[in-house]
Amino acid sequence: MKIAVFASGTGSNFAEILESIKTKKIKNVEVVLLVSDRPEALAVRKAINESIPVFSFTAKDFPNKQAYEEKILEKLTQLEIDLIVLAGYMRLLGHVLLQAFDQKIINVHPSLLPAFAGKDAIGQALDYGVKVTGVTVHFVDEGMDTGQIIDQRAVTIDSEETRETLIKKIQEQEHELLPEVIQRLANQEAAE
Ligand code: GRF
Repeated sequence: MKIAVFASGTGSNFAEILESIKTKKIKNVEVVLLVSDRPEALAVRKAINESIPVFSFTAKDFPNKQAYEEKILEKLTQLEIDLIVLAGYMRLLGHVLLQAFDQKIINVHPSLLPAFAGKDAIGQALDYGVKVTGVTVHFVDEGMDTGQIIDQRAVTIDSEETRETLIKKIQEQEHELLPEVIQRLANQEAAE
């Protein structure tokens, strides 16, 4: 299964997917493209270091979302991408990609959806004072973190929890769950 990872930031999930492939924790999966809306993102640097092709763009160079998504779609089609993995991609997808990749786009979100959708889910959970939060991998639809849930992991919030310690616990779970879900989808595709 050929995947394209979309990332706007650090790219720790992206790096973890590459590592899972290298160590054969996941099999029959190939990352063939990194897409980023921030050419200076650390994720882009990681891709270059690992010789993964990059398509990066600046949204304001295009008249609208449809225009840059058409460019992305061109790349995805050329490379025969089977699955899009959003890993810290900070833009809502538009109809161009959603229609072309119906049920073939997943996202990792740092909360137990439907709680704390949207930006800064970790800050929202700390502010609310919940004792359990977690990680969700879900299919992507036109809403903000609203698509069908594929799998989740819970993370407890201790009394002495800080933002930093919670981020670390959440990322540990993300780094396990996301490659696991990708493997499951690859197995399903192979069985079809
Ligand atoms: C992750 O916490 C993910 O859940 C959210 O964005 C963050 C990306 O982190 N959607 P990284 O760039 O993979 O380190």
